[in-house]
Amino acid sequence: MRARMAIFIDSSDPEEIKELFSWGCLSGVTTNPLIIAKEAPDADLAERIHQVLDVSWGDVSVELTTETVDEMIEESEHYVGWDPKRIVIKVPFSEMGLKVLHQLTKKGIKTNVTCLMAMNQAYLAALSGATYVSIFSGRVQDMGYDVRPVIASTRDVLDREGLPAKIIVGSMRHLMDVNEALDAGAHVPTITPPILRKMVWNPRTESTILEFNTAWRNRGKKK
Ligand code: E4P
Repeated sequence: MRARMAIFIDSSDPEEIKELFSWGCLSGVTTNPLIIAKEAPDADLAERIHQVLDVSWGDVSVELTTETVDEMIEESEHYVGWDPKRIVIKVPFSEMGLKVLHQLTKKGIKTNVTCLMAMNQAYLAALSGATYVSIFSGRVQDMGYDVRPVIASTRDVLDREGLPAKIIVGSMRHLMDVNEALDAGAHVPTITPPILRKMVWNPRTESTILEFNTAWRNRGKKK
């Protein structure tokens, strides 16, 4: 049986997140240091993430920015304290990242291993206990590679080996990236607000609704 699909929003903007969660189709939030630095350069991280937690539900990923194992573990414990059930620690993938991941897994802390460009990386992260493995669609394509086989082969190895990690696909540049990620086997596309809005919009849908409403308003009127 296929695992239940979900969509996460890739943003740290509480107002936008509140509005988009009101649609009912989102299940979580992913942030990263670049997103927060761009959206709210002066923000206090704890305050920003608490605002995000208040207007959403489900898992909220917060990325580590320290650079030694001990610092990363301490940073993780600090973030998890904000909401132990919902905070997911985003661990940048590297040899050190794997060490941190292994320790967080032993502590029962949910993790999202990030900045993955290849199946072999995602496989290692999944073996070390990652809750999520995040493949970066746009950045893989920026290097001139097709991301679809990366997603598909990752899904294949996770399913074949019975590994519980879920594949997040982020770094979406176009609506087509979302469609392709879903088709290739992503469990969770994480999508920016503008791309999520593009998933709603269709000119034929708009013109059809306009046609119906105009007919209703004009019913009984002689032409
Ligand atoms: C995913 O979790 C990341 O936050 C994000 O999608 C990175 O994308 P970028 O390539 O736009 O920085």
